[in-house]
Amino acid sequence: MERTFLMVKPDGVQRNLIGEIVARFEKKGFQLVGAKLMQVSKELAEQHYAEHKERPFFGELVDFITSGPVFAMVWEGENVIATARQMMGKTNPQEATPGTIRGDFGLTVGKNVIHGSDSPASAEREINLFFKGEELVNYSKLMNEWIY
Ligand code: TYD
Ligand code: MG
Repeated sequence: MERTFLMVKPDGVQRNLIGEIVARFEKKGFQLVGAKLMQVSKELAEQHYAEHKERPFFGELVDFITSGPVFAMVWEGENVIATARQMMGKTNPQEATPGTIRGDFGLTVGKNVIHGSDSPASAEREINLFFKGEELVNYSKLMNEWIY
């Protein structure tokens, strides 16, 4: 079963969108296996966005992602990496389709509400960057006698 790293960015947290975003992935049928509200340090931000370090927007990106708390999550499910990216919509919210998270809630490319891993390799890297093994929980929703 595949896992991906998703993060409600500081703008999403400030705009009270954590519940809305979690609800979309829950309703889709994916399973939450780890989550925490946290402040990203400059060091972690630079590591997380290392692929963009030569880009002109890198400084602003690091400043933004460290500007307030984020809600970091790990979600599990079949094809969750690509499906979550589809549910997020295009990077630039002005190009993102209505019905996607960025299409519905994002305003500008700098403040686009959510991060999601873009490949199996980046999912593994980002999960390990943000979470310790013991912070992720394996559980089954089947065979619970108290759900009927
Ligand atoms: P990127 O990895 O290209 O997008 P995505 O978040 O969809 O994987 O870029 C990372 C973040 O950098 C993006 O979410 C917002 C920011 N960014 C800018 O501020 N300006 C830009 O021109 C681009 C491409 C990204
Ligand atoms: Mg990316």
